[in-house]
Amino acid sequence: MHLDTQQLPTLQDYLRRLGWLDNQEIISSVETPGKENLNYTIRVTTPFRSLIIKQSREYFEANPALAAPANRAVIEGRFYQEIQPIPMLASAMPLLMGVDRENNILVLEDLGNVRDYTFLYEPDQFLSEADTLTLTNYLSELHYHFTTQVPDPIFANPDMRLLNHEKIFSFPFLQANSVDLDTVQPGLAELALPYKRDMALKKVVRQLGQVYLADSFPAQSGQSYQAASTKTLLHGDFHPGSWLQTQQGHIKLIDPGFCFYGPAEFDLGVLIAHLMIAQQPSTTLDTVLTSYLKPAGFDETLRQRFTGVEIMRRLIGAAQLPLSLSIDQKRSLLDESRQMLQ
Ligand SMILES: Nc1ncnc2c1ncn2[C@@H]1O[C@H](COP(=O)(O)OP(=O)(O)O)[C@@H](O)[C@H]1O
Ligand SMILES: [Mg+2]
Repeated sequence: MHLDTQQLPTLQDYLRRLGWLDNQEIISSVETPGKENLNYTIRVTTPFRSLIIKQSREYFEANPALAAPANRAVIEGRFYQEIQPIPMLASAMPLLMGVDRENNILVLEDLGNVRDYTFLYEPDQFLSEADTLTLTNYLSELHYHFTTQVPDPIFANPDMRLLNHEKIFSFPFLQANSVDLDTVQPGLAELALPYKRDMALKKVVRQLGQVYLADSFPAQSGQSYQAASTKTLLHGDFHPGSWLQTQQGHIKLIDPGFCFYGPAEFDLGVLIAHLMIAQQPSTTLDTVLTSYLKPAGFDETLRQRFTGVEIMRRLIGAAQLPLSLSIDQKRSLLDESRQMLQ
């Protein structure tokens, strides 16, 4: 079954067959919410309901030339299943309606045609205290409830981790890569160059990348990276593009396709990085850092390093954000992130 908005009868039959629509229920419209991204995500509307249906394929939608693990929607579905027993976590995400493992399809409650939180990157947009606390409590609960020595092997999620590893820890630091930073913003290439030439920095980033990858391929390669002290279930992609603002004005979290058992410092580091890139006041960062319930062994230096590398890769790598920062603002963020990567 290949989801296709152009093939409505096939789609309708499929959804009825799996029981996501009633037998007589007719699709009134189909649309693609958000922009084309990793997966094929559609909204199906009938007179009775609307559903979000997400299919993962063996490539990324936005870049079909890039091979990707086809079962990532199933892994994402497992994350939704795993967090169901924890009311705070379940209520902070859309309801899981079903998973079709055979076709790598995930069906979720539709939160409506709502905006994500990338508006925070615009000037003078601020995360409310309530939202800040929801995000922080979400990570506290997730990291508290799913600490284990023996995780479900599906959460090793090695292929997605390898892809993210390349995007975060490798590609942005290559002197000759395919991104012309001056097309992002004139002067950015020159600003980035010293970091790409900084051997000490690159060594720290390489080691950090190994912490990120630790235990991803235990059986296959026999490689054993130094695992972080605390391993817990991570969301794995905790930035404003994965946060939606419901019609009631609440924040909900989506898109845990990069989830894995790893260092809690990674999720927290990424969150802080995006708050910094979005120029949020230090009081917001303080709220996160003081209200987050640190798991035993939580390493603040490691958290800062993950923050540093996330800032750098978003500014000088390929996964650019819709920012309106000046070159001077980027320079000071890069300076700050370099300090975090000592
Ligand atoms: N449950 C949902 N309710 C409403 N809109 C959603 C929901 N899930 C996803 N979307 C919309 O679809 C877009 C892509 O979803 P996402 O899970 O981020 O896919 P991808 O894995 O391709 O990044 C989101 O940015 C959002 O606009
Ligand atoms: Mg997404």
